[in-house]
Amino acid sequence: MSSPDQPRVLVTRPVPAVVRDFLARDCAVDVWSGADPMPRDVLLERLADSSGIVCVVTDRLDRAAIDAAPGLRVIANIAVGYDNIDVAHARARGVIVTNTPDVLTEAVAEFTWGLMLAMTRRVAEGDRLVRSGRWEGWALDFMLGSELRGKRLGIVGAGRIGRAVAARAPAFGMEVVFAVRSGTPVDPQRLSLDDLLHTSDVVSLHVPLTPENRHLIDRRRLAGMKRSAYLVNTSRGAVVDEAALAWALEEHLLAGAALDVYESEPDVHATLRGLDNVVLAPHLGSATFETRAAMAELAARNAVAVLIGRPPLTPVIG
Ligand code: GLV
Repeated sequence: MSSPDQPRVLVTRPVPAVVRDFLARDCAVDVWSGADPMPRDVLLERLADSSGIVCVVTDRLDRAAIDAAPGLRVIANIAVGYDNIDVAHARARGVIVTNTPDVLTEAVAEFTWGLMLAMTRRVAEGDRLVRSGRWEGWALDFMLGSELRGKRLGIVGAGRIGRAVAARAPAFGMEVVFAVRSGTPVDPQRLSLDDLLHTSDVVSLHVPLTPENRHLIDRRRLAGMKRSAYLVNTSRGAVVDEAALAWALEEHLLAGAALDVYESEPDVHATLRGLDNVVLAPHLGSATFETRAAMAELAARNAVAVLIGRPPLTPVIG
């Protein structure tokens, strides 16, 4: 039973019962149980008397949403990325923003390798062929892909997830290089972004979406990649100029791509949807039972910590 003086927490998606029960020990919990994301007007209305919100990447916590909640003290995002939140405005209003780093690192790294293999070995394309009933049987030169062994993996973003992806490279016999943000690289494993793109066989993106990283991979940079190279994006859609990528894949300026994230989810560029040399996943990087439960739990712990006057476990610093 919640008491009237308990802080109210809005939870925008169903969460595991243990997480809900944990929140309910200190808070009055209002969980949106609709099958679709919470509509914007409902979000604004239910935020109005909330002290905290446990939200997901599809919820836009912009200036208007933050201003709709005069008593808001914490925004606990169930995600490591927080480009769905106006962090500067939250800070100006004294609202603490938290995210869920670490708990999803290994799941996203595993999924990135899954996409790399699916893309270079044409798994999704083969699956479509078998299902269509048009497969005519084994042939020596049929649906050949590229091997990873002996190739160079270029990782853009040397944070937790980029490093976890790199840690798996020796098992596949790949050499790893990282892109440096600026300045002259001193370590031979570190290259300028342009050099990394010119020389890598597989490029994997692991940077947050910030104003500087919007369309980091644009038409010019795609044109600078090896014709035999592949691009994987499990970071945020807008890090890649999607129209430019569709053009580059159509023109065969690179061998293929695998995407888990899109500029305007759930919409995906129509050209990409029609191409065979791109694997398209529906934003599943962290989507394992174990990881999603851990993310929800960490977000709930962050929300409760702030609401009972303790420091948050994983605040967003920036
Ligand atoms: C999901 O995309 C996340 O940022 O955790």
